[in-house]
Amino acid sequence: MQRRKILRLCTKSYTFKHKPIFIPMPACLKSYICLALLACLLIAEGCKKNSPSTTQPVVATLKATAPFPMGSAITSNGILSNYFYQGVLLTEYNSMTADYEMKFDITEPKRGAFNYAPGDAIVGFAAQHHLRMHGHNFIWHQALPDWVLNFQGDTPAWETLFKTHIQSEATHYKGQVASWDVVNEAIRDDNGQLRNQDVSPGDGTGSIWRQHLGPDYIARAFQYAHEADPGALLFYNDYGQEWGGVKLDSMIALVTGLKNRGIPISGIGMQMHIDINVDTAGITSALKRLAATGLLVHISELDISVNPGNDPNIVFTSALQLKQSALYQFIAESYRKNVPAAQRYGITTWEFCDADSWIPPFFNRKDWPLPFDATYKKKPAYFGLLKGLTN
Ligand code: G3I
Repeated sequence: MQRRKILRLCTKSYTFKHKPIFIPMPACLKSYICLALLACLLIAEGCKKNSPSTTQPVVATLKATAPFPMGSAITSNGILSNYFYQGVLLTEYNSMTADYEMKFDITEPKRGAFNYAPGDAIVGFAAQHHLRMHGHNFIWHQALPDWVLNFQGDTPAWETLFKTHIQSEATHYKGQVASWDVVNEAIRDDNGQLRNQDVSPGDGTGSIWRQHLGPDYIARAFQYAHEADPGALLFYNDYGQEWGGVKLDSMIALVTGLKNRGIPISGIGMQMHIDINVDTAGITSALKRLAATGLLVHISELDISVNPGNDPNIVFTSALQLKQSALYQFIAESYRKNVPAAQRYGITTWEFCDADSWIPPFFNRKDWPLPFDATYKKKPAYFGLLKGLTN
């Protein structure tokens, strides 16, 4: 309204209802006055728009609050077919990890027959929306196709199978994936040794990679990945660091040994599949010791089970919700306090909505481990995590 009035004054005489009012002045003076008035008006409007009182309230988000990337494991179905899932991901997170669709069983279901379509959908979405993409994973003792589990080759044939899988996928995603979990969960829970034979025959805890390729398969996996994609950051990923003891000791010895040999390892994934009764001192100690290696530290698969006892009658009470919230807050605070800024690769939850968690189906129990509930509503856990990220 104001601007129109001034423009009218500048372009023709201003008249009241009853009579015209002419302002006698040389035309050039009139132009300068008009331009000055217009400039003042534009500045005033600009100031008004930017003044806090007229801007929308800023709603805090995980990614805007965290001084490092905030990620989630995701599935192609979630990001492409579920608009609540997509909305939360794009609002709250700036990093993605493929939950299962970039693993061996999906990407090479038959020898030499590569299926990168699901991973391509995920990587394409990350690129389209400018999220960091963390690849997961090249080598694991699980999620293997039958042709690998039944492969009857000599050692050179196993090495070729192993190297071809890593370098085919790393080459396919070269330049699109910022980092990879190159080797996942190579260390036993009970004695800290490299997984080799099953703990109990047929229990799936052994590693065919160690059995057929020897203990140094891990170093070669990193070398093969680096050859194929020299620009990607390369991680060793595992769980149970917060237990301390032989598992953490072995993991630190492994990654330190690789680093000291000049093997191209960039960081450690600390999965953090924990529960409500976790020893928080163990988390702090583990973060300090992992940070002391000088490598990047990625909390890579965080979720907090509230029903570790498999209670079929459990109720997710307010008390449980608040305890879970306090633990999410503690983890974010401890990560910020104990991992130097330059080594923080970020915090990734393993999915973000309770309905998508692996825990209830895997353990066949009721559980609510993530920051968002089954309707994609923020839980107290979300606010605890957000508070722990805030300075
Ligand atoms: O979605 C398909 C469905 O269309 C199909 O009908 C069905 C039967 O084949 O499979 C479904 O996919 C399953 C997927 O979970 C659903 O999310 C895959 O078979 C199944 O293998 C996959 O399991 C994943 C598991 O790793 C093995 O890849 C879990 O989601 C995933 O949470 C779990 O993640 C692991 C990390 O990679 C490593 N750390 C531990 C973590 C939890 O076990």
